[in-house]
Amino acid sequence: MARYIGKEMSRVDGVAKVTGKAKYAAEFQVPGIAYGFIVQSTIGKGTIKSIDTAEASRAPGVIRIYTHENAPKPAPPKSAELKPQTNSQERDKSFRALQTNRIFFNMQPIALVLAETFEQARYAARLVKASYAEEKPMTDMEAELKSAFMPNPQRAPKPRGNPSEAFQTAAVKIEAEYTIPVEHHNPMEPHGAIAFWENEKLTIFDKTQGVYTVRTHLATSFGIPEENVSVVSPFVGGAFGSSLRPNYYPWLASMAAREIKRPVKLVYTRQQMYTGHGYRPQTWQKVALGADKNGKLTSIIHEAANNSSTFEDYSDNTTNFPRSIYACPNVDSPQKIVKTDMSTPCAMRAPGAVSGMFALECAMDELAYSLKIDPLELRLINYADVHPDSGKAFSSKALRECYHLAAEKFGWKNRKLEPRSMRDGRMLVGWGMATGVWGAFQQPASVKITLRADGTAYVASGTSDIGPGTYTVITLIAAEYLGLPAEKVKFELGDTKFPRAPVQGGSFTTASVGTAVYESAQNIRQKLLDLAGKEANSPLKAAKIDEVEFADGKLQIKNEPARSISVSEIMRRNNLTELTDIHEAKPSPERNKYATGAHGAQFVEVKVDPDLGIVRVTRVVEATACGRIMNPKTSHSQEIGGIVWGIGMALTEATEIDHRYGRIMNPNLQHYHVPVNADVLEVETMFVEEDDKIVNPLGIKGMGELGMVGIPAAIANAVFHATGKRVRDLPITPEKLL
Ligand code: MOS
Repeated sequence: MARYIGKEMSRVDGVAKVTGKAKYAAEFQVPGIAYGFIVQSTIGKGTIKSIDTAEASRAPGVIRIYTHENAPKPAPPKSAELKPQTNSQERDKSFRALQTNRIFFNMQPIALVLAETFEQARYAARLVKASYAEEKPMTDMEAELKSAFMPNPQRAPKPRGNPSEAFQTAAVKIEAEYTIPVEHHNPMEPHGAIAFWENEKLTIFDKTQGVYTVRTHLATSFGIPEENVSVVSPFVGGAFGSSLRPNYYPWLASMAAREIKRPVKLVYTRQQMYTGHGYRPQTWQKVALGADKNGKLTSIIHEAANNSSTFEDYSDNTTNFPRSIYACPNVDSPQKIVKTDMSTPCAMRAPGAVSGMFALECAMDELAYSLKIDPLELRLINYADVHPDSGKAFSSKALRECYHLAAEKFGWKNRKLEPRSMRDGRMLVGWGMATGVWGAFQQPASVKITLRADGTAYVASGTSDIGPGTYTVITLIAAEYLGLPAEKVKFELGDTKFPRAPVQGGSFTTASVGTAVYESAQNIRQKLLDLAGKEANSPLKAAKIDEVEFADGKLQIKNEPARSISVSEIMRRNNLTELTDIHEAKPSPERNKYATGAHGAQFVEVKVDPDLGIVRVTRVVEATACGRIMNPKTSHSQEIGGIVWGIGMALTEATEIDHRYGRIMNPNLQHYHVPVNADVLEVETMFVEEDDKIVNPLGIKGMGELGMVGIPAAIANAVFHATGKRVRDLPITPEKLL
C-alpha cells in the first residue's frame, strides 16, 4: 500500500517560495559585486563600423566596458549537451556575445558595461554609441518559404506508403495551411547569473534547467577542467525551455568577473530576454488529408517549416509527434527550416508537438465537416492501436479512455454538428476537441541517498526544479521507498556538487530522477538486508530483496510488519551512523521493444461575441494518460498550466516583428499578451492512470508538456463551431473573426 505515491502532497518548498526564503540566481549575496548591463544593437543586420565608449567610460561608477574590440575570446566550443533529447554531438554554434563586428539579429548585445551599481551600469549603457554599415535583414519566414531546406535529411523519418498517390485518389480530401507566429517563454524570473572566481575556480549562480550543461559550457569556454566550475541553481522561476542550453550571459558574466577580478552580476531586462534566449519559432504548415467515405484516413501529407537563425539550424520537429497519432498507411511529414536574421529559436513547452498538433487536429476537424462525421468519431475511426511507423505495440496507451472520459464529462454528445448552431443569449457558443501527445522519455540520471540511523534521510541530485514540483515529487518517492515520513527526508538539487542528472526538459525529470531514487533505495535495502543476513535469528534471514520493504523506519517482509527489523537498531549494531548509496538509473532496454508515449484529449467551449469578435474560453475538460501519477496535486497544476498556456497560444500570444528592421516590436509583458486570471474560466483536468512497468519500474511518464498539446487546436475548432469561420493563423484575435 503506497503511503505517499498517488496521494496529494503540498510543495515542500512552498513556504520558502512564498516567504522569499527561496533564493533565485540573482538574489545571492556576494561581497564586492559589480553590476553588468547589456547594450543592444539598433539594427537587424550589418556590421558595426565604430563603437564609442568614451563618454560611457567617464560616467559615474563605471568599472569597465567590453565590446567586440576588447572582449576575450572563448576557447573553441565543443558539444555542450546541446540537444538533451537526442544526445546530439553536434558542434556548438550557439551565439556568443561580443565576438565580432557582425550583427546577426536586431537587439544583439554589442557591449557590456560594468559599474558599481546597477543604475550606474544602466545609465552608462545609454551613452555607448555605435555606428553601423546597415544591411537589409530578412525576418519574414513566409516570404522566403521557397528557400526552406531539410537540415538533416538522413535523420528525417521516411514516408510511409505512397502518400501523394493516395491523396490524389482519395474520396474526400482537404488541404490547408496553418501558421504560428514567434512566441516567447516569458518566465517570471528574468535570466541572470552571478559569477566569481577564486584563483582558477569559477562559481556561478545561474538560472538554468541544467547545472551540468552550464558547467560543461563554461569549462569548455575557459579551457579549464570541469571540476573547476561550480554551478548553483537551487530555484528557477520558470524556464519552459528557455534555459535548456546556456544562453550568452553566463559566459559574459564569468568572462567579466575573471577580467575585472570581482564578482559580476548580470541579469537580462524583460526586453533583453526576447533575444537573450530562444523562442518558439515561426511555423508554417500545410496539411493534406485524404480519406474514404467512411472517414478512414488514406493519406496524410504534413509539411512544416520553421525559422532559424543564419548561424544555427534549429528544427522544431513539428511533424514528428503528429505522424504517430493516426493509423494511416500513407504518410509524409517533411520538416524544413528557413534561415532568418533572427536569434536562434529553442524548445518552448511541448516544442514541435503543440505546433504540429495544432495543424493536424484543425485539419482533422475540417475533414470531419467535409465528411459530416462527428470530430470525436473521426478520431476513433482512425485510432492507432500500434505505432503506425514501427508497428510496435504501445507500452501503454489509454487515449481511447481519455476521449471517452473527457467527452462524457464535457457533455460532448449534446453537441450540434452545424457551425453557428448553439447560442447563449447573443453569444455564439462553440464546442471543439483535439488530441494531445508527448513522449514518455527517460534519461540516465544519478542520485545520492544517505540513510541515517536517526531515522532521517538525505537525497541529492544535480537535476533542477523549474517549477513543476520536482523537490516535492522526489521527496515523496524517497519517503515512499525508504519507509520514512516525508518530513524526515531532505532533498537537494540544482548544484554540480550533486550527482550528475540531465537538464530538466522533455518532461523526463520524474521518470529519470525518480527511477534513480527508487533504484538507489533498493540498493540501500540490499545493504541492510546483507547486514541482517549476518545476524543470528534475524527475522529477515534468507529473505530476498524483492520480498522486503521499508516501512515506518523498519525493514520488513512485505505486508508482514511482524517479521521486521528496526533500521536504526541494525545500523547501530553495526556501528553505522549512516549508509550512503550513489546510483545512476538508465532507461531499460525493454523499452525499445515497444512504442512509448503519453496522450490526452481536450474538449473546449468558447463563447464568441458576434459583434466584437472577442473569444472567451468558458470551459475546458482535459483527460490525459501519462502513466502513474506520483503527486496528483502538482500534476493537476501542470495540466492546468498547460491549458492556460494553450489559451495564450490560441488567442493572444505573438512576438510581433517589424520586418523592415527585423526588430521585435513588443518585447514586454504590456504588449506581449499572456492570459491572466480573468481569461481563464472553468478548467477541469483528469488523469486516466496507466499501469506501465515497461517505461520504468514506477510507471512514470512525462506530463509537464503534454497538457498543453491539443489545446490551441481544440480552441480553434471551437471557434469554427461557434462562428463558421476557420482561422488558421494564430493567435485568433478579434480582427480575424470580423
Ligand atoms: Mo522543455 S521545452 O523540454 O524545457
